[in-house]
Amino acid sequence: MISDQMLKLVNGSSAIRAMFEEGKKLAAIYGAENVYDYSLGNPSVEPPLEVKKAIYHILETEEPNLIHGYPNNSGFEDVRQAVAEHLNKKFGTAFSFENIVMTNGAAAALNIIFKCILNPGDEIITFAPFFTEYRNYAANYNATLTVVPANLETFEVNFDEFEKLITPRTRGVLINTPNNPSGVVYSEETIKKIAAVMEKKQAEFGTDIYLISDEPYRELVYENIEVPYVSKYYKNTFVAYSFSKSLSLPGERIGYLVANSEMADFEKMMYALNVANRVCGFVNANSLFQRVVPYCLDCKVDIEIYNRNRIDLYNKLTELGFKCVKPVGAFYMFPETPIEDDVAFCNAAKEFNLLLVPGSGFGCKGHMRLSYCVSHDTIINSFPAFEKLAAKFIK
Ligand SMILES: Cc1ncc(COP(=O)(O)O)c(C=O)c1O
Repeated sequence: MISDQMLKLVNGSSAIRAMFEEGKKLAAIYGAENVYDYSLGNPSVEPPLEVKKAIYHILETEEPNLIHGYPNNSGFEDVRQAVAEHLNKKFGTAFSFENIVMTNGAAAALNIIFKCILNPGDEIITFAPFFTEYRNYAANYNATLTVVPANLETFEVNFDEFEKLITPRTRGVLINTPNNPSGVVYSEETIKKIAAVMEKKQAEFGTDIYLISDEPYRELVYENIEVPYVSKYYKNTFVAYSFSKSLSLPGERIGYLVANSEMADFEKMMYALNVANRVCGFVNANSLFQRVVPYCLDCKVDIEIYNRNRIDLYNKLTELGFKCVKPVGAFYMFPETPIEDDVAFCNAAKEFNLLLVPGSGFGCKGHMRLSYCVSHDTIINSFPAFEKLAAKFIK
């Protein structure tokens, strides 16, 4: 029999699954090219050529037992050192391999951090709109996710609410910038203000509150926007990074986490993370792709392809009267739905073969998420469908 806890998750994820099934049905009837699927965050841009070259080079030159064997749970030491040096060069930090754990993407990084810091009943705070899986990750460790309501005009942090929601049970504050689903990037000023609130609350409650920065979209930014490196602003900081989007490798499950040396119980924490990687069932990050990492640290996908989609889709939607905070990072946009009921609106969009995800799942009713990691043809060909949708709902 399936556990009650799992049944809750299965029922909770049925909306996304229904959307996926719906997409398949529509594609069978109308042809895949006539269905405009904006539902999934699967990168559409090819990985950089360096990835393929690195794989061939490694297979030809390195020991098979090294490539395919179990490494240390925290990852190969030389790979972790290469990551640390890359970060130091880029951000002026002072990391060594000891600050880094290689992980199966950002999802695993977040899960092992949660495993290490959460007791049942503890709280993680995040900001709406947020990546839907956060609730499940917190539930994995019998913790709760507390959501700071969104500032709907900007999707910036609502500081008054944030401060009020921190309690003695708050163990972590989880931020995601560039953000899925809004595409917003927090400025240095915002990060400093978040850090200041957290310092104050740590002192007030006498607790450790960790700042956890989920950064799979760090490299996907437009308009010369800078993404501040959060470790510099707050001692108890973890960064969860991933190559899923920066190198278009989501199926390879490769990323890493960075923990600040200045954090509480640093050495014990690193050992705990090493053990967590094993006991959560990941054991270690994919070893071939760990070996690929040092060759590709300075590479990223051609983000101009996403940028063109971003500009064309944003211009079209706003021209049609949709209200939307302009995204400057990641590959999502999060416009308001013209009617309050976002689920009903996304259902109505299916009539025009448009697959959009209701904002409710991201903690923001009255919105919809569009993943513009699709072909440019899909963007352009979907315009008549958006015109019909707007004609029906926007007066
Ligand atoms: C905000 C956010 N965090 C984490 C993840 C998980 O990414 P990964 O493939 O690195 O585990 C995703 C994936 O879409 C995401 O959007």
